[in-house]
Amino acid sequence: MAFPQHFLDELTARTDLASLAGAYTALKQKGGVWIGLCPFHNEKTPSFSLSRDNTMYYCFGCQAGGGAVQFLMKAENYDFADAVRELARRAGLDMPEDDASVRQGLPRKRLLELNTLAARWFHDTLSAPAGAEALAYMHSRGLTDKTARKWGLGAAPDAWDGLADALGRQGVTREELIGAGLCAVGKRGSLYDSFRDRLMFPIFDPGGKVIAFSGRALKADAPAKYKNSRETGAYIKSRTLYGLHRAKNSDRPYFILVEGNVDVPMLHQHGFDSTLASCGTALTDQQAALMKRYKPEVVLAFDSDEGGRTAVQKAVPKLEAAGLSIRVLALSGAKDPDEYLKRYGPGAMEALLSGARDPTDFRLAQAAAAHDLQSDEGRRAYLRAAEALLLEVASEAGRQVYAHRVAETAGVKPDAVLRDLDALRRRAERGAVRAAERAALYPRKPGGGAEEDLLRHMAVGPEYADAGREALTEADFTDPARRELFTALCGGVNAAALPEPAAALLARLRSTEFGALSDITWRGALEHLRKGQVKAARPGSDEDLLNLRNRLKP
Ligand code: UTP
Ligand code: MN
Repeated sequence: MAFPQHFLDELTARTDLASLAGAYTALKQKGGVWIGLCPFHNEKTPSFSLSRDNTMYYCFGCQAGGGAVQFLMKAENYDFADAVRELARRAGLDMPEDDASVRQGLPRKRLLELNTLAARWFHDTLSAPAGAEALAYMHSRGLTDKTARKWGLGAAPDAWDGLADALGRQGVTREELIGAGLCAVGKRGSLYDSFRDRLMFPIFDPGGKVIAFSGRALKADAPAKYKNSRETGAYIKSRTLYGLHRAKNSDRPYFILVEGNVDVPMLHQHGFDSTLASCGTALTDQQAALMKRYKPEVVLAFDSDEGGRTAVQKAVPKLEAAGLSIRVLALSGAKDPDEYLKRYGPGAMEALLSGARDPTDFRLAQAAAAHDLQSDEGRRAYLRAAEALLLEVASEAGRQVYAHRVAETAGVKPDAVLRDLDALRRRAERGAVRAAERAALYPRKPGGGAEEDLLRHMAVGPEYADAGREALTEADFTDPARRELFTALCGGVNAAALPEPAAALLARLRSTEFGALSDITWRGALEHLRKGQVKAARPGSDEDLLNLRNRLKP
């Protein structure tokens, strides 16, 4: 069966390849990436590695490579569908429904009715014996009964068909339960509840209607900490923000964007009533645009772990593109806003919010915290890190302001920092020129080097995927794997379902061995490709030659 794109995307996002592969071979972290002995061939020195974001693997020894699905196919000898099914089970995702009548979807009005019925039943169950455990868990997290009423929190009992049974008695059909994502069909055709043994958070549309659910596991050994409704006609994850229906009415002029579901009612409970969260996915452009409709500014209060920092870096350009002003909260001493609030109280949170930094400020503070500023060695290392950050600041005035601050932190004169920056910029420019010269040479593999370098730009930098779509066609690539990958990167084909050679190529291009991306290296590779094509065109075929020459012009 063909799986919907959003389902495969979510499966990838929900799978930690390091722990999946870690069950087959011992992995250790080196320079921020996981490496180990390849589970697919015999070797004594590690040549198996994961991409930085833990979604792709590649073995430099046997050239095996791909994503989590391909890994499991190879490791367990599964076919594609079986590997997907197993990963979905581990991630707590229901398999998308095969049945055409279900896939076609229920009308939005009926979906809303069904979700409302379910929300009411979950909420009632929270104060019934079957919900005692969920209620105790809710209280242990510090959420009050008043908050539970306000947010319609509920309990999914530890049973297979509590909801199916209750709604069935209210005349809801089997097809409707499946169609709304409330129930799923087991191997033997029986119906079971999608949410079991969980504290339930209804997800609302901006008008306050229930469109989906997110359930927090009550037991630590549950297969997934959170389980979210699958998408329906009423629920599109990339366009939904949890808490928006309340946050948009707040008097605060900014949204507070958090990662965790629990953080939303928790922060509201303490008066931070403009808090919202993206629904268990990385922030999307549509969510950013949606926020902009209501408020001009957003304060990011993401988790203070590595994942949270990466999420900040990914969210900032999207929020910027939507025209929002951005500040970033430094939650030092706590792993997330929920914990910060519990540990330091609402007053500290309020103070933090009024002093929230802009993204550069935030990264500079991180750099300062990472170095020992009491020692000369530490101050030098801090300066190097801070200056590298300042180089990325676009405006001259901005660089001046930050240079003064950095100088103060490092205990040197501002002029010294500004001189360093000048030197660094000149060196970066020289480096770029050299990279361009190298790109123009590409001697060894005719075409291959340039073709792969173009694909690498497209695979790693989203802006180059657009450039590639404009400048290149499938016919520019000389082998099937490259053609396949090119089409996938242009958005035509599902990257998660790539056949092995193209998936391996993608994994290799995304691995850490290669240089940085820049417009200069991109243009160098493009030029090299075109020159090679002109040379390869047969003598006598003037038409081909002319065509290629024309394409070489900028
Ligand atoms: P976290 O693991 O940081 O969860 O995931 P959290 O909300 O802080 O969890 P607790 O309850 O405080 O321990 C952040 C968000 O990512 C999504 C959820 O939306 C969660 O709130 N997520 C996480 C899932 O959808 N599924 C998961 O298995 C884990
Ligand atoms: Mn949390």
